Amino acid sequence: MSMAKDIGIDLGTASVLVYVKGKGIVLNEPSVVALDKNTGKLLKVGTEAQAMLGRTPGNIVAIRPLREGVISDYDMTERMLKEFIHKVAGFSFFKPRVIICVPSGITEVEERAVIDAGIQAGARKVFLIEEPVAAAIGAGIDIAKPDGHMVVDIGGGTADIAVISLSGVVESASIKIAGDQLNEAVVKYMRRTHNLLVGERTAEEMKKQIGCVFPKDEEETMDVKGRCLLTGLPKVVTVSSTEMMDAFEEPVERIMEAIHSVLERTPPELVADISTNGIVMTGGGSLVSGFDKLVAARTGIQTVIAEDAISCVALGTGKSLDSLNSMQDGTMNLSRRKQMN
Ligand SMILES: Nc1ncnc2c1ncn2[C@@H]1O[C@H](COP(=O)(O)OP(=O)(O)OP(=O)(O)O)[C@@H](O)[C@H]1O
Ligand SMILES: [Mg+2]
Repeated sequence: MSMAKDIGIDLGTASVLVYVKGKGIVLNEPSVVALDKNTGKLLKVGTEAQAMLGRTPGNIVAIRPLREGVISDYDMTERMLKEFIHKVAGFSFFKPRVIICVPSGITEVEERAVIDAGIQAGARKVFLIEEPVAAAIGAGIDIAKPDGHMVVDIGGGTADIAVISLSGVVESASIKIAGDQLNEAVVKYMRRTHNLLVGERTAEEMKKQIGCVFPKDEEETMDVKGRCLLTGLPKVVTVSSTEMMDAFEEPVERIMEAIHSVLERTPPELVADISTNGIVMTGGGSLVSGFDKLVAARTGIQTVIAEDAISCVALGTGKSLDSLNSMQDGTMNLSRRKQMN
């Protein structure tokens, strides 16, 4: 008899990573679905659907059902999860147990929606784990000790900041400002400063290539193509990394404020631990050049970007599969273990 393998899912706004026990990360695809607008039929999910974003003919829509870190389109999220679970588990008779990672700030209603989506998608049981807890485990931090650690996970839709000790979240903040909002800030900046309309993909490329939140040693530039708002015609503008810092200022300040507010609320012993242990950054959004330097400069605390920052959450979710058997039956929130003891 072959039992279904336990599965860990990082259900992210930008991408979904699936970890299968004993195998590691077996799937990493964008959180996108493509539908036939007229029939509602699911056409493609993940990578194939991503290629359709912004390029669909009238009858096809490509959507990101998880924008801003929560399920904004429940039905689509469920269908996407189903496809991904089938892809890794096959159409087995035995249903897998699934741990799904969620942002730390989600409401009970949203938690319920994620659990239901998992069950509808074919899970035997669904467990939830808070994103910063999974990120910390994935970054190799021993979270079980009575020792404070701060994790800053900047994803596509949410930035999760948490202080963790004894396997639980002591203080946290989750704001809906992350990589996506940096892209939007670039689009706005280009319109305001250069009268140039650029698409979201271009904004993302600019962010990755020349974007920075702390002055670079050497200024970089990039030629950016878009549509001139004055003539309606294509135009090329050269943009510098210093300009990108201006463009990012508002959303980045909001993230800094959130980090600061969590530190302010953290009990003094744990703050002392954090100043010794340093701050660990995870998530794709933390890869914008200079983020670690900015956090270190503002907090006075040594800050590092975790190795494999984009996979940390999925790896941590995977590692936490090992503790599933010691947990009580039914759906429950892993990170609330502490409160339930
Ligand atoms: N090299 C890079 N430089 C800057 N940003 C990057 C880089 N690589 C990825 N990103 C950004 O990281 C974000 C996605 O990060 P990640 O995969 O951690 O998000 P997610 O887990 O899907 O989202 P969330 O945790 O908010 O639900 C995107 O905004 C993407 O543009
Ligand atoms: Mg994430």
